[in-house]
Amino acid sequence: MRFSQRHGFDLDSQGHLVIGGARAVDLAARFGTPLHVFDEARMRENCRAYVRAMQEEYPGPGRVLFASKSLCTVASCQVAHEEGLGIDVVSAGEILTALTAGVPAGELFFHGSNKTPEEIAYGLDAGVGRFVVDNEHELGWLDRLARERGYRADILLRVTPGIEPHTHKAIQTGGVDSKFGFGLLGPSAESAVHRALELPGVRLRGLHCHIGSQILDLDPFGMAARSLVSFAAEMRGSGFVLEELNLGGGLGIRYQADQEPPTPGSHVRVMAEVVRDLTTRYKMPLPVMMVEPGRAIVGNAGVTLYTVGAIKTVPGVRKFVSVDGGMYENPRPALYGAQYEALVATRAGAEPTQRVSIAGRCCEAGDVLIWDAQLPEVASGDLLAVFSTGAYNYSMAGNYNRYPRPALVFVRDGEAHVAVERETPADLVRLDRALPRRGDG
Ligand code: LLP
Repeated sequence: MRFSQRHGFDLDSQGHLVIGGARAVDLAARFGTPLHVFDEARMRENCRAYVRAMQEEYPGPGRVLFASKSLCTVASCQVAHEEGLGIDVVSAGEILTALTAGVPAGELFFHGSNKTPEEIAYGLDAGVGRFVVDNEHELGWLDRLARERGYRADILLRVTPGIEPHTHKAIQTGGVDSKFGFGLLGPSAESAVHRALELPGVRLRGLHCHIGSQILDLDPFGMAARSLVSFAAEMRGSGFVLEELNLGGGLGIRYQADQEPPTPGSHVRVMAEVVRDLTTRYKMPLPVMMVEPGRAIVGNAGVTLYTVGAIKTVPGVRKFVSVDGGMYENPRPALYGAQYEALVATRAGAEPTQRVSIAGRCCEAGDVLIWDAQLPEVASGDLLAVFSTGAYNYSMAGNYNRYPRPALVFVRDGEAHVAVERETPADLVRLDRALPRRGDG
């Protein structure tokens, strides 16, 4: 199978890369580069795979949520909602994006490890479905602000099971030494349950955990499910009933063509089996089980297109092929050592003949998007496509060096729709204000 097909994309008869039925070269000509391109059908298929997995693997009621932090745009929230997913949001900005997409507030799960009182009030007034409470500070504010409004907020408590999956340290979130959640290994989670059961402004519906991201080994997911259900069983004496169990996201995707990530079906199955077995053993009703994937929904549906500019050969050392993007629109290589693969979009079937480094254009020696890219001959003006950039690229993009963020298009049946316009230089100075000149009084 060809390299591009292993990434899920076809070539046309002239060797052009095709995304969602449109040729990459035509999209670049129409919208410019760098360009984030999404294959809408692929995103929908990823949503459906999770919904199906939940129906087939879990005997109780299930729910799939889209972790919008992976790609928080109106269009991506719209697609996820149309496919029946609820939405995980972590800020007022993500809430507003989902609401703008037409997602009913009741479908929103409000996460975040340091929600401000203003954000909590905003969430309450918007009517978000669940607050996923991370700590005592939040619990206190939520209770108070809900009571002031005559509400009782439905909550899940985020607990930290003390599990460290094998992934980059910066994206492990379930270990003891984590800023997130109430620790299950100490008294913290237990006292949080007691307190939540007493507070009149909240209604405790269940538990949540999220152990990390880009996880390719399924065992830690089963372990997390085991610790949460066992904890819930222990807490029954206090009057706690586990109605809902949200086991987070975290499933890894293919970044290299030869990787074989587990499927959504097997991801859901390892957790479903544990939940079914333990609830039977403890004679507990099956909770509503939830998962909240982000990367596995949008990651492989996104491709970034770049135009090659300067090429510098350091004899005997390396060839730098510079592109018109960089760490401002994909910070993952610099932050996590993330590895991507690329091809020349107009000769997508050409065999690689050389190893080059694809450099971004930020003023940082470390702004290299791919250190070891295998490419055919490449010249200035060529169009490069980098695969699996759908998650945590656009959503983590910034304006370092005052580069405008790229446009983002969704392609459906060969038709491209702009989902986010390209930023303009005017946008970059829109919020700037000149200081009064000295001496103007
Ligand atoms: N639920 C919660 C509470 C989360 O914090 C996250 C991701 C997810 C779900 C979705 O996880 P996913 O299925 O996408 O792995 N910026 C990093 C990833 C950070 C993940 C943050 N939380 C990266 O680019 O690798």
